[in-house]
Amino acid sequence: MELLKKLSLLYAPSGREHSIAEFIKNEIKDFADSVYTDNLGNLIAHKKGTGKKIMFASHMDEIGIVVTYIDEKGYLRFADVGGLYTKYLSGRRVVFENGTQGVIFSEPKNDKNSLLKMYVDIGAKNREDAEKSVNVGDMAVFCGNFAEQNGVIIGKALDNRAGCFALIEAIKSVKSENDLYFVFTVQEEVGLRGARTSAYTINPDIAIAVDVTDTGDTPKCDSNAVNFGGGACIKVMDYSVICDRDVKKSLEEVAKAKGIPYQFEVMTDGGTDAGVIHFARGGVKTGGISIPTRYIHSPSEMIDKSDLDAVIRLITAFAQE
Ligand code: CO
Ligand code: ZN
Repeated sequence: MELLKKLSLLYAPSGREHSIAEFIKNEIKDFADSVYTDNLGNLIAHKKGTGKKIMFASHMDEIGIVVTYIDEKGYLRFADVGGLYTKYLSGRRVVFENGTQGVIFSEPKNDKNSLLKMYVDIGAKNREDAEKSVNVGDMAVFCGNFAEQNGVIIGKALDNRAGCFALIEAIKSVKSENDLYFVFTVQEEVGLRGARTSAYTINPDIAIAVDVTDTGDTPKCDSNAVNFGGGACIKVMDYSVICDRDVKKSLEEVAKAKGIPYQFEVMTDGGTDAGVIHFARGGVKTGGISIPTRYIHSPSEMIDKSDLDAVIRLITAFAQE
């Protein structure tokens, strides 16, 4: 899991994916016919073939914050980049691209948990001092702290570095007649933006978005059938997409044939790159493969290694169909 650890710890809030794209490119360049970046920053690996044109998409970006104002005492006010839950924020540490760390806290009388009442403290003496390391418009992400125990992984940005890891592993091992595009997309967390242009350019016959999904097996949470450790999720729908029934069916058939543990996923909150890919051009038959994940968009997301393994096997098997 050394590779997943490196991916998790990289700094890549939406729109600032350049270093992770470079990292992934180095990791996969010997396993694809071409690897290139498009105008928006999506990293695209092509493994040529004469069969179906299949596009797999995993987003590289993570949620973060952006500095909106620095006050005279040197405290930073901020807005969200992607879907932050304010309840997870107080006392959390964030890190900027240059390594500057800050503590998020809220004004003492703030009981509404509004971002407007929160600030980041980098220990600066005043505005001038703060501006030596951080400026308005700079972005920060949660500080990483990666752990592996009891068959699970805990870390920041497993949404969606776990998906990126799965695509990387699939690129390394897959041998197929199909024409395969593996896309590491940008700016998913702010509105599925990178997937939109890459799907238009690639114009695939079939597309699969690979991302994380919520589980329903934590205390007093029983309206979701997804089980942690229950296998790869075959997406039925989320708020952004109703998956193509043929794609869903063939994912299920492939999983059955190869003995890959799987379960169906209906995510009532949140979307994925599938949401814009299926709208590309005249429409694309689109499905999703998801990794059951607890505490999504917190600094301590958790995945089960056996689920991740099942997801890698399902991607690889589907690419060979
Ligand atoms: Co997300
Ligand atoms: Zn995601």
